[in-house]
Parts: sequence; structure tokens; C-alpha cells
Amino acid sequence: MPEHGGNLNDAVAYYGRPREQWVDLSTGINPAHYPVPALPDMAWHRLPEISKELEQAAAAYYGFPACVAVAGTQAAIQALPRLRPHSRVCVCGPSYAEHAWQWQQAGHDVIRASYTELEQHLPHVDVMVVVNPNNPTGETIAPATLLAWREQLAARGGWLIVDEAFGDTVPELSISSHSDLPGLWVLRSVGKFFGLAGLRLGFAGASANLLAQLSAWLGPWAVSGPAQTIAQQALSDIAWQQKNRHVLRQQGQRLRNVLAASGWLSQGTDLFQWCSHQHLHQQTDALWEHFAHQGVWVRRFDASAWSAHGLRFGLPASEADWQRFEQACQQWKPQES
Ligand SMILES: Cc1ncc(COP(=O)(O)O)c(C=O)c1O
Repeated sequence: MPEHGGNLNDAVAYYGRPREQWVDLSTGINPAHYPVPALPDMAWHRLPEISKELEQAAAAYYGFPACVAVAGTQAAIQALPRLRPHSRVCVCGPSYAEHAWQWQQAGHDVIRASYTELEQHLPHVDVMVVVNPNNPTGETIAPATLLAWREQLAARGGWLIVDEAFGDTVPELSISSHSDLPGLWVLRSVGKFFGLAGLRLGFAGASANLLAQLSAWLGPWAVSGPAQTIAQQALSDIAWQQKNRHVLRQQGQRLRNVLAASGWLSQGTDLFQWCSHQHLHQQTDALWEHFAHQGVWVRRFDASAWSAHGLRFGLPASEADWQRFEQACQQWKPQES
């Protein structure tokens, strides 16, 4: 099964350091989450029919012509492979490993291709899955390219799936507003930019026909009442969104600068930075151990089938955490090879 960041339990168990003493940089989730409002009793009490207001707020924020709320983008990632007959699927990689894993689990033929190889596979597959911008590498694909790929795939009954879970800070890359075109799925997450991963909420945009199939697969009450109430407020709070885009831009730059000061070239988004094994001077594993001994938990990617060797760094949550991270970087002594 794919590994994931945010696994602080593993760090606590293995290194014996209490939870509160870790600086957790192992995810790409905004450390300053949306302030959760007090909830009306009805949010808990009623069976959660999907509220029209929520879908309208999501459509306005993401630019979807129409969308379906899901219990995290992950719920859609698990459902989509179950909505198609046996297919040839090309998944971008290295990337969020659940895509390839779920298509494989559902019995499809899956190939993985790097961003530069995707186009050459296009004529030979039924489904193309792209994460834009990519996690962990931060690679991107221009909207015009994606829309051209969608046209080719749809002409033969295929799908283009674009996972925009990290798209909130780069709205110019989004094709959410085109998601009613045949054969296109666009997935969005409330977990990352709003820092509400525990809410388990995301949205899928697609044509009416595809959305109906997804809703039928998910069944009734797929998203909790509290999640709906909180997200409706977060998605409508333009002042919070603008302020956080600005803050994340500055923090993303600070993270790049800290890594560069240690001689590690990085790429990524405002929410995380990726350093490949090469850019870590072939010291990924030793460096990861060094950070762990300093109480800084970063996400290591090994060189297994669906991964690429390197480290991903999320944003520290407080000035004290920044200081500890910067100290850990300064204390690193490269190992003799
Ligand atoms: C690219 C990508 N898509 C989707 C997800 C799942 O997000 P959610 O919390 O919305 O299920 C993740 C989680 O890390 C991710 O990195």
C-alpha cells in the first residue's frame, strides 16, 4: 500500500520522542488552518443531504460549472476506477501514489509516465491521470495542453483526470471551469489550502452524466453535516482566502530560501518544496535520519516503483518551528561517501 506523510505516529513510535516535541513538516497542508466556526446543532443532528448552498459556494470558489462533494479527494480517487470497464491507464509519476494504486487495485492496466513522457502515451491509453501542480515534484502542465489531451481522449470515450488538490495558490493553472466538457474530471481538496485535512472534504467537477455516476457510486450522506457547514463558510470567505494566499506565497519563498542556504535546490508549490536525491547530493537517507534525530519529521520518498528518491518539506507552523528547522539545516554535516 502507498505510504503517506502526516504519519507522526510512526515517528513517535520509532524515535520515542513525544508527539508535541516534533516539528512536523511531513505534509503539504497549510499549517494555519481555517478557523472552524461553532456549529449549529442541526449540523450534527440531521442526516447530511448535500446542501445546495455548499455546492454553490464550491462552484463559485473553484469555478466549476457543476460539482459533487466527496469525503476528501481521496474518495473520488477510489471511486473513479470503479466507474469504468477495463481500461489502459497512464498515471503521471512520481506523484500522489494513490492514483496508480487505486486503478491497479480495480484491475486496470496501469503505466506510469514522467511529465515529459505523458504525451507520447496519449494515443495508446483510455485514461490519463495528471496531478497539477504535482505532489511532490511541483511540476505543472499548461491548461491549453490539458484541454487538448482531453479532446483526444474524449473522442474515443476516454477520460482525462486532473487532480488540482494543490491548485488553490496557482489559480491560473486550473481547468475547473472547463470540467463540464465530455470526458474531463477535475478534483479539488479542501484539506490543503484551507488546512482542513481532518474535515475529509473535496469536490469533483465533471459533466452531468459523469457526476451522476459518481454520486450513485458514493451513495447518500457521503459528506458529514459538520464538514458541509464548515466548508460552506471557508469557501465563501474571500478575505481569508486572499490573506492566506499572500502569507503562503511569503512562507513558500522562505522555505525555498532556507533550503537554498544549505545548498539544496528545490521546486514545489507555496505549500511544500521537493528536493530530489540529486539535489540533496545523493544524501537523502542520511539527511532524513539527521532531521529525525533533531525532531524534524519530513517526508522521505524512497526509489520504489511509484516513487522517486528525495525529500519533501512542508511549512513550519510557528516561528519557533522555523527556528528549529533552520537550526537542523545548519547542523547538517554531509557524510563522506
Ligand atoms: C495530489 C493529492 N491528491 C489528493 C490527495 C488527497 O486529499 P484529500 O485530503 O482531499 O483526500 C492528496 C493527499 O495528500 C494529494 O497529495
